Amino acid sequence: MDTENHISDTAFLVNESRARQEQISLDRFARHWVPEKDRERITVLWDDFAEHVYPHDDIELAVRNRYFLTRLQALLKMHRDAVFINLGAGLTSYPYLIEQDIQCIEVDYPHLIEFKKRRVAILKEQKILPEKKLRMEPADLSNPVDLDRLKAVLSECAGERISYVLLEGVSYYLSMSALTALFDMLREIQVSGSVFAFDFWKPDIKQHPVFDRLQRFFVERFDFDACDYNLFDESFINSCAGYRVDAISWAVEQEKIFSNTERLADYNNILPEHYAVLSRT
Ligand SMILES: C[S@@+](CC[C@H](N)C(=O)[O-])C[C@H]1O[C@@H](n2cnc3c(N)ncnc32)[C@H](O)[C@@H]1O
Repeated sequence: MDTENHISDTAFLVNESRARQEQISLDRFARHWVPEKDRERITVLWDDFAEHVYPHDDIELAVRNRYFLTRLQALLKMHRDAVFINLGAGLTSYPYLIEQDIQCIEVDYPHLIEFKKRRVAILKEQKILPEKKLRMEPADLSNPVDLDRLKAVLSECAGERISYVLLEGVSYYLSMSALTALFDMLREIQVSGSVFAFDFWKPDIKQHPVFDRLQRFFVERFDFDACDYNLFDESFINSCAGYRVDAISWAVEQEKIFSNTERLADYNNILPEHYAVLSRT
C-alpha cells in the first residue's frame, strides 16, 4: 500500500472516535461507515492507538466534529442555500447531520471516495442514509493539476452563493506550498461572507509527548513517515489575505460547552489541536 492509503486509515480511526462518543459528536451515522467485516480491525486499531498514543481521541474528535457542525448549522440559519465543501472529508457525515438539503461536495483521495460511494449506496439501500445533494469528488489536494480541476468544479457548484469550506484533520499532512496553493484557490472561489474552517497543529506540538507517540504510531502502523508535518500558528492564519479570523479555539475549551466531562484537563495527555474559523472579507 502507498502512503496515501495509509494516511486515509486515519479517517477510520477518527470516525471510530466519533462513533464512540455519539452523544457529543451527534454523528449517528459514524458507526455505519465501517462494513461489518472490517469492524474488528478498526476496533483493535483504535484500542491500540488509545493504549500507545493517548486515551482521549474519542472525546477530542467528537468535540471537533460538534464544533464544526455547530458552526455550519449557524451559517445555514443565515444562508439557507449555502454550499458545503468538505476537503479531505474522510468518513464524516455532515451532509446527513444537517436538516437543510443544500449542495454538498466532499473531496478526498480517489480510493477513499470510491470506498465512500459504495458505502453511501449500501446505506441508502438499507434506508440508513437519506437522499442528499452530495457530490463526491476524487482529488489529491497536493496536486496542482487536481487543484485546477477542483477549482472549476467548486466554482461551478458554488457560483455566487455563500460557502462553508471545511479542511478537518488535513492541514498538517499538506506541505506549506500545497496548503498555500489551496488557500489561494479558495480565496478565488469563495464570495464575501463565506466561511473557511480548519484545524491545525502549532509548532510547539513538537515538544508534546502525545505528538511524539503519535508520530511513532503513524510510522509503525501506517508506514507514514512525515518528519515534516506542516505546523503553524495564529500569525500565519492572521496573514491569510482575503480572510478575517472569526474564532480560534481548541478541544479543551469546547469540551466545556459540548460535554460535562473534564477528560481533556491534563495538558500532557491530550493532542493539542486548534480550530480556526475564517470569514471571506
Ligand atoms: C485524519 S483524516 C480526516 C478525515 C475527516 N476530515 C475527519 O475529520 O474525520 C484525513 C483525511 O484527509 C485525506 N487526505 C489527506 N491528504 C490528502 C490529499 N493530499 N488529498 C486528498 N485527501 C487527503 C485522507 O484520505 C483522509 O480521509
